[in-house]
Amino acid sequence: MGKGVRVGMFLVAMLILLGVGINGEIKSQKELLEVQRRLKILNKPPIKSIKSEDGDIIDCVDIYKQPAFDHPALKSHTIQMSPSFNLLNRIKTNQSATTVIPQKWQKTGTCPKGTIPIRRNQEGDLFRARSFESYGRKNQSVRDTKTNTTKPIRNNVQYYFPQENVSLSYLLTQGYSYIGAQADINLWNPHLESNDEYSSGQIWLRNGPPNFYESVESGWVVNPIVYGDRQTRFFAYWTADSSKSTGCFDLTCPGFVQTSHEIALGASFDAVSQERGNQYHTQISLYLDPKTKHWWLQCQGINVGYWPGEFFSLLNRNALYVMFGGEVYSPRIRKTPHTSTHMGSGYWPEGLFQQACFIRHIRVMDYSCSWKFPEWIYAGTDEEYCYRARLNTGYTIEPEFYFGGPGQNPTCP
Ligand SMILES: *[C@@H]1O[C@H](CO)[C@@H](O)[C@H](O)[C@H]1NC(C)=O
Ligand SMILES: *[C@@H]1O[C@H](CO)[C@@H](O)[C@H](O)[C@H]1NC(C)=O
Ligand SMILES: *[C@@H]1O[C@H](CO)[C@@H](O)[C@H](O)[C@H]1NC(C)=O
Ligand SMILES: *[C@@H]1O[C@H](CO)[C@@H](O)[C@H](O)[C@H]1NC(C)=O
Repeated sequence: MGKGVRVGMFLVAMLILLGVGINGEIKSQKELLEVQRRLKILNKPPIKSIKSEDGDIIDCVDIYKQPAFDHPALKSHTIQMSPSFNLLNRIKTNQSATTVIPQKWQKTGTCPKGTIPIRRNQEGDLFRARSFESYGRKNQSVRDTKTNTTKPIRNNVQYYFPQENVSLSYLLTQGYSYIGAQADINLWNPHLESNDEYSSGQIWLRNGPPNFYESVESGWVVNPIVYGDRQTRFFAYWTADSSKSTGCFDLTCPGFVQTSHEIALGASFDAVSQERGNQYHTQISLYLDPKTKHWWLQCQGINVGYWPGEFFSLLNRNALYVMFGGEVYSPRIRKTPHTSTHMGSGYWPEGLFQQACFIRHIRVMDYSCSWKFPEWIYAGTDEEYCYRARLNTGYTIEPEFYFGGPGQNPTCP
């Protein structure tokens, strides 16, 4: 054995001992132990584990041992197995127009009743977080910190304020007390410039001032910061303080109470739409149970679970405004060079069906507890030369919303 080879082997052994993080950084033994300690708390002992073909491990965990019960406010929480009212007139979507698809892991197994499928947190997931405390949480702060007002900014849009390092294209509705929102969201796999960014297609329901809002959100996201890869995944997100210190994606922190044994938060979809090819969508509904004050999340008509009303002080009565659209997070937003990360499909909304990302069958709910098309809507965008929003009222029975764009381009250098 040559000297060089032995030195090489020694170095490799040292690197293994030290533990090498996902991005090549050498992690100390102390950090590694801390990550393992946190994973032991985060990952509950499974009754069964399913290896998904995309590399995820899905643990079937006893419903009464789920992460939510680690939250101090939920120590003696009684799980509500189903909402106290039935959703009236759920929109039956035209299945032939675009196909609805399940999650990839479901091809290799199912979780028994009495358990919930949880995407297992891995060492790399925690090492990628900017701190262990902020694992799974969005990095958000309102751009102009002097804005602590609900004074209209433009076109009577009262509540939405741009966030630091975030670019949004949205359809916004306000003016009522909203207790629900629903839509079919077209599934795409947008290109990301780098792994410190994310891009989503989603619904937001919010209440509170711009720099201290409460929010529940769901849709699809490509988010290597949280998931370590660039698959299009189903996500749920919440915060009670504009992501300062509460809330997270999926079950990466105690909060969301899951009831479904069929759908896993953070799991990837089995297929995404192709330009001029097959189109896929997922139907998302979020609604407040007026009796228990829990915010329920539904995917494809299946109740996934809820965020307990205890977490909120305003949102447990109603949302002040609802948004549908796309969000790109990047440290290269409103900068030159701008990020080339795509929003939606990466195409401008003018591309319409089979090219741009759509949101259809848009519904909101007030205290009448039935779905209706919003009365007042406004299509807006943070950086119109990089990403755009367009409400299409032309040839269809009801307005459809298209959003997205390429990010960096000659008009958005
Ligand atoms: C469903 O969509 C197909 C294709 O776009 C269309 O031909 C058909 O008329 C639609 N059906 C209904 C009930 O809207
Ligand atoms: C997140 O925000 C904090 C400041 O709030 C900043 O220090 C940090 O660099 C940000 N992280 C990323 C990945 O942008
Ligand atoms: C913002 O306004 C709210 C009430 O309008 C107030 O409670 C809060 O302290 C204000 N925050 C800041 C940072 O000024
Ligand atoms: C935004 O990005 C810049 C780098 O461009 C970073 O320094 C800052 O901490 C980020 N802030 C947030 C809230 O993500």
